[in-house]
Amino acid sequence: MSTRKPCLAGNWKMYKNRADAVALGTGLHDRVGDQTDRDVAVFPPLTAFADVRDALEGSIIEVGIQCGRPEAEGAFTGAVSMGQIVDAGATLVLCGHSERRQIFGETDEEVGSQVVAALAVGLRPYLCVGETIDERQAEKTWEVVERQLTAGLAGVSDEDMARCVVAYEPVWAIGTGLTATPEQAQDVHASIRAWLAKRAPGGENLQVLYGGSVKPANVAELMASEDIDGALVGGASLDVESFSAIVRFDSGE
Ligand code: PGA
Repeated sequence: MSTRKPCLAGNWKMYKNRADAVALGTGLHDRVGDQTDRDVAVFPPLTAFADVRDALEGSIIEVGIQCGRPEAEGAFTGAVSMGQIVDAGATLVLCGHSERRQIFGETDEEVGSQVVAALAVGLRPYLCVGETIDERQAEKTWEVVERQLTAGLAGVSDEDMARCVVAYEPVWAIGTGLTATPEQAQDVHASIRAWLAKRAPGGENLQVLYGGSVKPANVAELMASEDIDGALVGGASLDVESFSAIVRFDSGE
């Protein structure tokens, strides 16, 4: 169990219409909205963002947006800027989720620009990194993660580093039901933490989350690892009972 504050975040991806999103938000507000000993966040789809933000008002649960462009404004049909994300009332933004990298072709450098733009407007970026199954099998896990960290945080000042969250999400574990073992995850998390410590003074204090098929049944053993500070949850965050159970995970302490 790390000494850093636990952080449990739900990425709702392209799921939920407004009514269902509000029901989920309201349910979370009731069940875990007062858990001040941990950070809790949700990333609803854009269409439901305002409704969920309102449903969570007065709770400790923060609301973020799943991606944003680094440009302040412009002809980018379908996209939103970091400034618009703040304007909508969000405090967090995901940067470089593997689905954005793979489906939408976001490069390491573009993700780095998003992180810089997010910090510039006061958002807390969650920088997502992680290797594919081919990269893991070719023993390139750390090479890939280090490259994504280096580019993702390239433009971030030492001071601003403290406002970043890193999420290690092995691509092969996302939405597949295959979870990295606590040992596999801890191994990469320890390397990420050592890298962050070298990158900036106090870098070792950043929250480093694990993502990839986290469920109520495996969250506690993942969280028991020294360098795993939380979870970024997809599928299991879509159900109020399962995400509440993840948020309330029992650290056994
Ligand atoms: P999953 O997704 O929990 O459904 O594997 C995690 C993520 O994409 O952040």
